[in-house]
Amino acid sequence: MKTLLRGRLLTFHADPAETEDNHRYIEDGALVVENGRIAALGRYSDLAAPEMVEIDHRPNLILPGFIDPHIHFPQVQVIASWGVQLLDWLNRYTFPAEGRYADPAHAEPMASAFLDLLLAHGTTTACAFASVHPASVDALMSAAEARSMMMLAGKVMMDRNAPDYLRDTPQSGYDDSKRLIARWHGRDRLRYAISPRFAITSTPEQMAAAGALVSEYPDLSIQTHLSENHAEIELTLSLYPHARDYLDVYETYGLVGPKTLLGHCIHLTPREIAKMAETGASAVFCPTSNLFLGSGLFDAEGLRRAGIVTAVATDVGGGTSYSQLQTLNEAYKVMQMRGQRLHPLAAFHWITRGNALALGLANRIGSLQAGGDADLVVLDARATPAMALRAERIESLAEELFLLQILGDDRAIAQTYVAGRPMKPARAA
Ligand code: GUN
Ligand code: ZN
Repeated sequence: MKTLLRGRLLTFHADPAETEDNHRYIEDGALVVENGRIAALGRYSDLAAPEMVEIDHRPNLILPGFIDPHIHFPQVQVIASWGVQLLDWLNRYTFPAEGRYADPAHAEPMASAFLDLLLAHGTTTACAFASVHPASVDALMSAAEARSMMMLAGKVMMDRNAPDYLRDTPQSGYDDSKRLIARWHGRDRLRYAISPRFAITSTPEQMAAAGALVSEYPDLSIQTHLSENHAEIELTLSLYPHARDYLDVYETYGLVGPKTLLGHCIHLTPREIAKMAETGASAVFCPTSNLFLGSGLFDAEGLRRAGIVTAVATDVGGGTSYSQLQTLNEAYKVMQMRGQRLHPLAAFHWITRGNALALGLANRIGSLQAGGDADLVVLDARATPAMALRAERIESLAEELFLLQILGDDRAIAQTYVAGRPMKPARAA
């Protein structure tokens, strides 16, 4: 069956920060959706046909679904924990919460709640860290499969500097990861991401085991953390005394390449910046987390100019919102603090096609393209009284996007489609 979605279409084919010809906007546009894919897109008048079921989203915007390239699934009950910076936050709040995910009876309902939150906030794909327990990956992947979502996830590998109940070993981390790859990678729309948590929680032997996985499965994404916090960097360098810098730990074990997503990247040295540009590893900016944990101000413009692929993510539960709109709001402010400007077109490119590029999935998601997956978000710039009032004075698409970026959250998500299926109950008119 074909469905016709009518609305104001916006999609990007290049980064507005780099290229003038970067987006396509169709005021009275339509998407033909069939079997979970976009069969065609264009002007409504060119595509309307009597045999199709029509859903009219005017005057709302239809964009590709948002992509969150760095989030922690077992931290849904950690978000909004008071008073500390990274290492104390991990020990005091995060590790105890992640310990509960050994139990499928806890992990399963949390996985459903987590994915429903993402969808309510317009996010259709995420790259997620699970806990150390394989059961947590099973819970998340099963819940994603039930929703037909494109999802990347991996169990964190961590064999030191964490409580007993959260430690694997180099061998068990390797074996469990391999079993999970066999079970989940490539099934439906699911992908496995090799996930050594960060240098502090892995011994050199475990880093080598993660490197072995990378050479056995070169197509898989790799996710970890880099240079988020000064105490973290100092401890890392004391644990790896032969490393030239933090990134060198990951380089030594073959973990740095174009499939690598490095969360945070705030306090990088010039050598690390040059190496990231050379290898094609992505730097993932997590603004709400960086402000909440007092980690520092990401240099988005500097890293982009250095030739590094950048992505932008929530990092819940260090991050304080599931909303990629609110993430862009805080990104704008962090960039202001550095004297940089985040243009709204560049912002919306970032959370759609930009993040898809970092995940290596831009051929399927992140833009509206014939043959691409029908993962979509419908945005209402008048969703709240404050937004509606401000919207009265909007004169351009860029102004409308900026309003969504600064005042928008889950209330501005009128609908989310996953593989062509609406995932939110229809709102009363
Ligand atoms: N570094 C290692 N683990 C984590 C985590 O769970 N959250 C954040 N923000 N940083 C980390
Ligand atoms: Zn993180």
